[in-house]
Amino acid sequence: MALAVFRAARRAPSIARSSSSLCNRFLRFSAVRYAADVTRDPMTGELTSLPDIEPARLKFIKNTDPRPPPPSSSLVFGQVFTDHMLTIPWSANSGWDAPKIQPYGPLQLDPSCTVFHYAQTLFEGMKAYRDKNGKVTMFRPDMNMKRMNVSAQRLALPTFNGDALLELIKELIRVDKHWIPQEPGYSLYIRPTLIGTQRAIGVGPPNEALLFVICSPVGPYYPQGFKPIALYGTTEYIRAAPGGTGGYKLGANYAPGVVPQKIAAKKGYAQNLWLHGPEHYLTEVGTMNLFVVFKKDNGYIELVTAPLDGMILPGVTRDSVLALAREHISGKSKLTDLPDNLVVSERPVTMGEVKAAADKGQLVELFGTGTAAIISPVDRIGYLGGDVHIPTDPDGMGPVSRVLWKELVGRQLGTIPSEWSVTVCES
Ligand SMILES: Cc1ncc(COP(=O)(O)O)c(C=O)c1O
Repeated sequence: MALAVFRAARRAPSIARSSSSLCNRFLRFSAVRYAADVTRDPMTGELTSLPDIEPARLKFIKNTDPRPPPPSSSLVFGQVFTDHMLTIPWSANSGWDAPKIQPYGPLQLDPSCTVFHYAQTLFEGMKAYRDKNGKVTMFRPDMNMKRMNVSAQRLALPTFNGDALLELIKELIRVDKHWIPQEPGYSLYIRPTLIGTQRAIGVGPPNEALLFVICSPVGPYYPQGFKPIALYGTTEYIRAAPGGTGGYKLGANYAPGVVPQKIAAKKGYAQNLWLHGPEHYLTEVGTMNLFVVFKKDNGYIELVTAPLDGMILPGVTRDSVLALAREHISGKSKLTDLPDNLVVSERPVTMGEVKAAADKGQLVELFGTGTAAIISPVDRIGYLGGDVHIPTDPDGMGPVSRVLWKELVGRQLGTIPSEWSVTVCES
C-alpha cells in the first residue's frame, strides 16, 4: 500500500516531490523499519547516534527531459545510462542524509575532494533482469550490499544498512524499469559507488562521502554464442598481494590493471591470468574469479578455485558456482549432467599443476566467473613463452561449466525457481 502511494507521487508531474504529502506518508511508513538506530537525547532532543540510510526520507526529482532507450542491438557495455540516479550524501557530523532519486547527470565536486587524490572509491556491480512477462528480478543482491560494506570498512568510508540501500536501489530500478531490455541475455547493469568527498588534501578518513547508484542497459557478453578466450599468464605484474586490497572491490585495484591488459592484448590474449609468487599460483582472470576442472588419478572430477586468502575478490558468481556444485554433491539439489563423482576444492593451484594436467590429458576445463559474463571459458594460456591448451567442446564450453551456466542463468532469469532471485516488481 505504502509503495503504491509512493508510486503515485512519482507519477505526478511536478519536479520536486520532497514535500509531497503522499511521499511523506510512504516515507513515514518505512521509517519505522529503518530509523531504529537513530537515538536522541531525551532531554535535549539532540542526536546521540547518527542516522543510517533511511528509505523513508527518499526525495524524488523527476527527470523532465527523459530520453527513449536506444535499440538493444546498439548497446555497448557501460556506455548508456538511464534517466535517473540515486544519491545519498554522508557526513561525519550528521550521518547519512536524505536519499535522492534525481535526473542522471554530472556530480558537482570540489577538485580537492579526497576521491580525486587518494582513490577513496569503491563500487559494486549487479544486474536486474526482466522476463517476458515484465517481471523484474535481481540475483543475490544482499551479497553485493555486504561486500560493499566490507569494502567501505577497508577504506574508512562510512558503512550503512545494506537492506535500506537495496530498498532504494529497487525503487531506482522501478523508476527506470522501461530501460531494461527484454531480449534474452540483456539486463540492466547497476553500479553502486561510494566516494570520499572531503574537501581537503590530506590522507585520512574523509569527513564527507557520497554514495551514488547509476544504471546502464547492457547486452549479452557473448552475443554470438560462447567464444572461449585466451589468457596471458602474467609474471611481470600482480593484481593483488597478501595483506593488500585484492579481496575488496576498490577502484584502486582496477586502474593499475589497464597497462598489463594492454600488454596482454598486444600479445594476442584477451585477459591477464594473474599469477602469484614464485610458484605462480593462479588467482583471478582479468576481473573474474577463476575455476579449474581436473580429472584426478582416482577418476574423480575436481572443481577447484583459489581460496579467499585476501587476494581473491569474493565473487557472487564464484560463491554461487561453489554452492551449486556442493548442493549437487550433497544430493540437496542434483544437477542433471553434472558428474556424480565431483569434488569441490578451495585450494591454491599452481601453473605447474595446470601444465602437468594438460600434458597428461587430465585438464578438463578452465573458466572465469563474474556478473558480466557469468561464465567465461578459456581455451589457451600463454605461459613463459609457450601456450598451455585447454579443451573446450564445440559449443565453446566444458562439461562442468555448461551445466553450471544453465543453472545460473535459469535462476537469474527466474525460469528455475530459486531463493537467490529477488523480485523488484511484478510487471
Ligand atoms: C577482480 C574481480 N574478481 C571477480 C569478480 C566477479 O565477482 P562477481 O561474481 O561478484 O561479479 C569481479 C567482478 O565484480 C572482479 O572485479
